[in-house]
Amino acid sequence: MDLVDSFGRVVRDLRISVTDRCNFRCTYCMPEEGLKWLDRSEVLTYEEIERVARICVEQFGVDSLRLTGGEPTVRAHLPQLIAKLAALRLPDGTKPDIALTTNGATLRNVAGELRDAGLDRINVSLDSLKPERFFAMTRRDELHNVLAGIAEAQVAGFSPMKVNAVVERGTNDDEILDLVRYGRDNNVEVRFIEFMPLDATNEWERNKVVSQDEIVATIAAEFPLEIMPSRGAAPADRWRFVDGKGTVGVIPSVTHPFCGDCDRVRLTSDGQFRTCLFATDESDIRALLRNGGTDAEIAELIKIAVGAKWAGHQINQVNFIRPNRSMSQIGG
Ligand code: 5AD
Ligand code: SF4
Repeated sequence: MDLVDSFGRVVRDLRISVTDRCNFRCTYCMPEEGLKWLDRSEVLTYEEIERVARICVEQFGVDSLRLTGGEPTVRAHLPQLIAKLAALRLPDGTKPDIALTTNGATLRNVAGELRDAGLDRINVSLDSLKPERFFAMTRRDELHNVLAGIAEAQVAGFSPMKVNAVVERGTNDDEILDLVRYGRDNNVEVRFIEFMPLDATNEWERNKVVSQDEIVATIAAEFPLEIMPSRGAAPADRWRFVDGKGTVGVIPSVTHPFCGDCDRVRLTSDGQFRTCLFATDESDIRALLRNGGTDAEIAELIKIAVGAKWAGHQINQVNFIRPNRSMSQIGG
């Protein structure tokens, strides 16, 4: 049975945050000292995560599982979770697509293992190719390791690799073309993300958002672009380079919200079910998991939450309320 909300959107994608911790401190996400981490006992076990994923895949036909954080690779034995998820099957017998969003710092060591465990796709976050600026934005001197990680992941068979770059005016907006060149030369699809009001330190301002239109105009002036057919439920709009050297994407969360096509729901590392990144309420799946809830009860809670999913975020309205958690606590 499909999971359908009151606007007719069908849920196909479950984003699972496996930890709220991170080895980076990106300025647009976390304060320098980090956040107050969850206690280990609050975080779902791999068995608990698998149970929720199984219900979504087997009962509701969710065909895409994405692991996020914090930084998912800082959680011990991540390949074990991937192997459990890779063993799930949809009602028609197919395997769900399993993806990972990572900052890439440790990827050079784990790419092969992740591949062997059954991971299908990797997105690496990379906002600058200049070591000093990379350090300024992430507060970690890890650029060389991230670039090595992307290369190693390609060797391990992850293709095409995708890189996400958050663009912030006055910080890295002068690097759009350099990132595009990096993508073209390394067979990587770069996807630029409009800066969203999800930072832990509340520094988001509308004038720091570089719009999709500006990003595309900057790229097209140097590398002629051709828009690719509609994105469906995927958040990125995509273009191909007219010279045939790959593709580039933009995730225009602020200037062209894609809520109308959203097929996503989220499970936080502490077991809260959210129907939107910007939701101001969540449903406590962990309580059911730990108090003897049945699969039917968990499925019912998911159905009710999805039934109440709102039309979309209100970033562009005066009554916008920021979620009370940052990206690292919700899961990207
Ligand atoms: N705005 C836009 N993107 C963000 N990310 C983290 N915080 C923000 C924000 N405030 C991105 C990360 C990563 C993905 C999980 O979310 O860079 O690519
Ligand atoms: Fe860590 Fe990602 Fe937040 Fe950066 S954006 S601090 S890599 S969770």
